[in-house]
Amino acid sequence: QTIRTFQSTFLTWYDQNRRVLPWRENPQPYYVWLSEIMLQQTQVQTVLPYFERFIQTFPDLASLAAAPDDVLMKCWEGLGYYARARNLKRAAQQIMTDYNGQFPQTATALLDIIGIGPYTAGAVASIAFNEVVPAVDGNAYRVFSRIFNDQTDISQSKASQHFRTLIQPLIPKDRPGDFNQAVMDLGASVCTTKEPLCLFCPLQAFCQSYAQGTMLDLPVKKKK
Ligand code: ADE
Repeated sequence: QTIRTFQSTFLTWYDQNRRVLPWRENPQPYYVWLSEIMLQQTQVQTVLPYFERFIQTFPDLASLAAAPDDVLMKCWEGLGYYARARNLKRAAQQIMTDYNGQFPQTATALLDIIGIGPYTAGAVASIAFNEVVPAVDGNAYRVFSRIFNDQTDISQSKASQHFRTLIQPLIPKDRPGDFNQAVMDLGASVCTTKEPLCLFCPLQAFCQSYAQGTMLDLPVKKKK
């Protein structure tokens, strides 16, 4: 019952506060995948114009797989981490050749695609295919270490499995992608690292670190 209240509170907040983003309005796998790769090392505001230009130039997987390298790199110029662009094209070729042009539809299967790790697999599977899986990145570590007042050291490799297990039962079965994106938005705008805006947080009543006053000590990150 607490979980149901938690879910409806969080999704209502998301519906009223969510950022309107092109890959959210039309969550086709190609758009979701591209946006997640672009957002890996780059902020939303920077990504937006690049995303628009990219999908104008390469509207689908087939066009990306056949992209001339100079046009591809021109499209990416200024975003940095150019290996991402080269891997995007290689992944597009892989999906065209080995998957008949269709994205694999589960997080587990998506891990076999070039450049897709556990976070991106969870994001694409939940947002584009409604699979009930978490997308665990730095935002999720921060939000859920605080909600559970969880002292797990996130610099340890076993932390991501720990948080996936913790988060899994909280994901609403009918809106997994929105739930994961609510975590991203909350982490970006309210549950921030240095000055979390707990007074504006929809999850304050559920937050064990708020009750204990330990928000600024979480998440625990020991190694540098
Ligand atoms: N950062 C990473 N993925 C995102 C998404 N789908 N929406 C907003 N911010 C994000």
